[in-house]
Amino acid sequence: MEKNECRVCVTGGAGYIASELIRKLLDEGYTVHATLRNLGDASKVDILKSLPNANSRLLLFQANIYNPTEFQHAINGCQYVFHLASPLQHTEGYQFKNTTEAAVATAKTIAMSCVRSGVRRLIYAASIVSASPLKDDGSGYKDSMDETCWTPLSLSANFSDDHLAAYRDSKTLSEKEILSYGSSIEEGRGLEVVTLGIGLVGGDNTLLSYTPGSVALFISHLVDKVYGPHGYKALKYLEELGGKIPIVHVNDVCDAFIFCLNQASINGRFLCASSFVSSVEIAEYYQENHPEFPIKQEYLEGTKREVQWGSTRLMEKGFEYRCDTKMILDDCVRCARRTGYLQK
Ligand SMILES: NC(=O)c1ccc[n+]([C@@H]2O[C@H](COP(=O)([O-])OP(=O)(O)OC[C@H]3O[C@@H](n4cnc5c(N)ncnc54)[C@H](OP(=O)(O)O)[C@@H]3O)[C@@H](O)[C@H]2O)c1
Repeated sequence: MEKNECRVCVTGGAGYIASELIRKLLDEGYTVHATLRNLGDASKVDILKSLPNANSRLLLFQANIYNPTEFQHAINGCQYVFHLASPLQHTEGYQFKNTTEAAVATAKTIAMSCVRSGVRRLIYAASIVSASPLKDDGSGYKDSMDETCWTPLSLSANFSDDHLAAYRDSKTLSEKEILSYGSSIEEGRGLEVVTLGIGLVGGDNTLLSYTPGSVALFISHLVDKVYGPHGYKALKYLEELGGKIPIVHVNDVCDAFIFCLNQASINGRFLCASSFVSSVEIAEYYQENHPEFPIKQEYLEGTKREVQWGSTRLMEKGFEYRCDTKMILDDCVRCARRTGYLQK
């Protein structure tokens, strides 16, 4: 099939990762069905409409996770679906009592829509918050973090709060739900499912005029913002879950998504991160390379952990990361400066 005849759906289209993914998909010649929560929000719609080739090959659809069936229209006619929309704040007034219920119901509805519509592959933006190497009995970490690890939801990690725990639950239960619909071509049921367990994403996406939440986590040492979902505490929570923090550049994430699309056959769970670093190592890098930002001493002191990054599945398939730790961290500073989040 010619690429422009191949239709690809991307949910949550105006987000940090999704907008860059759509830019790349249009650039490669695909026709894209993007969903947004609110087609009346010009600040988000205009980001996508301004992309090269959007006039001829981008169709926008309105779909809210709190109304799962709304995604069906966008999925119709597509061969591949990337599910990136994810609720961070609970919306009252719907049938769901929290973000987890809404996210899992949407994951299930989207997977069923994919089966019904003859979609070839569903690719989900999962998270490393679902792949903690913490042992179920709370006695420390396994030796390595890889695709066999599932976060024990009954354990409460240090630095957690209701918001972070809700995100962990929503991503973990949604990923399990989506994986249950996958079958390899050999198994013959039709829908292949890939869950890409993405590390903390950094790097600049110049389509956006604000600093994305995950970029704000990277530079939380520099703005000394301790609390809140984009603060140092959230970064430390990721470190508590993982032992260290898996990180990856937004360009590599989007390339990994497209790599999964381009495989003749692929199914299952893959973690996606190019480096595995501690919060102290991030702070030390900024202290050495961006001395204009004084780093508090407490950010330079931390626990040394032996847990290793053990995930190789994506690279065994042939995927290559192009961005190293330096590029990720420097591009976070560049993004924050460009958008005014950092003043110096
Ligand atoms: N960034 C990371 O470090 C990271 C790491 C691992 C996994 N991920 C996953 O990757 C995906 C994209 O993340 P991101 O960093 O690009 O986040 P983002 O910029 O906040 O994008 C999230 C998207 O979800 C949409 N959304 C939120 N609530 C919704 C609702 N009720 N109905 C429909 N759409 C809704 C948002 O739409 P609006 O624009 O309308 O708000 C937004 O487009 C998410 O699934 C996230 O969990 C991200």
